[in-house]
Order: sequence, then C-alpha cells, then structure tokens
Amino acid sequence: MDGVLPRRAAQLLGDARRVVIFTGAGISAESGVPTFRDDLTGLWARFDAQRLATAEAFHADPDLVWGWYEWRRTRVSRAEPNPGHLAIATIQTRVPGSTVVTQNVDDLHERAGTRAAIHLHGSLFAPRCIAAAAHPATFEDTPDGEAAQPHEGRRIPPPRCASCSALIRPGVVWFGEALPEAALTAAVEAAAACDLLLTVGTSAVVYPAAEIPRIAARSGATVIQINPQPTPLDQVSAINLRGNAAQVLPALVADAWEQTDER
Ligand code: OAD
Repeated sequence: MDGVLPRRAAQLLGDARRVVIFTGAGISAESGVPTFRDDLTGLWARFDAQRLATAEAFHADPDLVWGWYEWRRTRVSRAEPNPGHLAIATIQTRVPGSTVVTQNVDDLHERAGTRAAIHLHGSLFAPRCIAAAAHPATFEDTPDGEAAQPHEGRRIPPPRCASCSALIRPGVVWFGEALPEAALTAAVEAAAACDLLLTVGTSAVVYPAAEIPRIAARSGATVIQINPQPTPLDQVSAINLRGNAAQVLPALVADAWEQTDER
C-alpha cells in the first residue's frame, strides 16, 4: 500500500449500513491460490482456457478437463483463508446488512466464517451431472490418494452419476455459459441497494460479473477498490487502495471501527 490508508475509506466503512464486498481471485492470492490474469503466475498465462474451461473442451477431452479441476480443487483444499478473508467475515459481523459476492470458485470465504456468500461462477466443490443441472450429482468422490498428486497435465476420468450414469462435470461456470440465475439476481439486487461496495482483487473484465460494482455506482453507492494494480474500475471507484488484500482489508476494518468507537 502506498503511504497511509486513507482515513476517508475507513470512515465510509464504519458508517455504512449496507455493504457489498465483491471479490475476485486476488483475495485468495495470498492463500497461495493462483489468479487468472496476473503475468507469469496467472492460470490463463500458463493454460489454454479454450482447452480447459469450456463445455466443448469437456466434451472433447473429459479426462483432461476433470484432471485439471481436480488439481485446482486439491490446491484450494490445502490452502487456508488469509487475513483478507477474515477481515471480510468481520465486516459481515459488524454490518449485518452486508453481502459477499464472489467470482471465486474456492471455499475460502466460507472457511473464514462468511455466511451465504453468493458464488457467481459456481464452485469447485459442487460438481454436477451433465445430463440435468437440476438433479444433484451423486457419485463416488475421487479417492484422496489419487487426487493428492494431480498436476496440470494429469488426466483423471470424471466419475459417473449414480442415478443416470452420465458424466459428472465440475460445478463451475465455463466460458460461454450463463451464470446461475438466482445468484446473479441476488447479486444485482444487493449491488443496487447498497451504500458502499468494496471491490477486492478482481481485474473486472469478465461480464456480467464485472457489472456488479458498476450497478452499485450507478445506484448511488460509493465504490472503494482494493487492488495492487490499476483496473477498469479505477474510474468508478471513489477511492483506490493500491495494495494487497491481506494487508489492506485488516487495516481498513481496524480503522473503521476504531474510528466509530471513538465517536
Ligand atoms: P483476475 O486474475 O482476472 O484478476 C485478479 C486481480 O487480482 C488482478 O487485478 C490483480 O491485480 C489482483 N490481485 C493480485 N494479487 C492481489 C492481492 N494480493 N490482493 C488484491 N488483489 C490482488 O481474476 P478475476 O478478476 O477473479 O472465471 O477473474 C474473473 C474471472 O475470470 C474468474 O472468476 C474466472 C476467470 O476466467 C471463471 O472461472 C468463470
């Protein structure tokens, strides 16, 4: 973070009644979960999304795609929430009218204590049957011993649905697919009704998720951005905190309620 945390940001948080915290891969970066678009380390700098993250890719080579998601799921399972996730859970406790909207497919918000996070892009932990999105997938999980060693190129055949024997697919939203309708509706409603939106660790280039902070701004909310790099949201953000979420968020939370408690 350059210099001191702006006092105004902490005041806004301490005074807010309805907060939306909108997160992307950057919130989990310091837990060791790779982002997508960071140079060199981002997943899309190292892997071809068209071969791994589309419905066509899964149909063409299910073992490759399932193996890659098993690799990611294993990495996330071994990661721990960082102080940024914990600070967000604290905001939810301090401001009961707050909602976490995440593009992330990990479960680190939940493991940090956040309740009812809205997952716009699905979850690594909710695989589903390709035959019918409506029927819950029942299948034998990949044995730990096998999943323990997945790597980028490891092919693992997906399990089959116990009720209809169709393939089980990762429960994430792939390129070209619609977002889960209920999640998107809930996120849009929360954004339109909030007085403060914190956007944390997202490049804000993937739509429609990237609309969420813009909806909040258009509806009159203040937007505060936490990101070490500039993003297209610089223009809609009243305050840009250039730093890592795991440092900036705990400082912001500490300042917000220290100031409130002083008043
Ligand atoms: P990106 O990888 O596009 O962006 C990550 C952002 O996090 C960048 O702006 C970084 O500058 C920032 N960042 C990196 N380290 C950080 C840190 N320690 N603290 C705060 N910020 C940090 O990831 P997303 O914006 O989440 O879609 O990507 C959006 C979607 O694109 C993902 O949900 C995924 C991907 O394709 C699906 O899986 C459907």
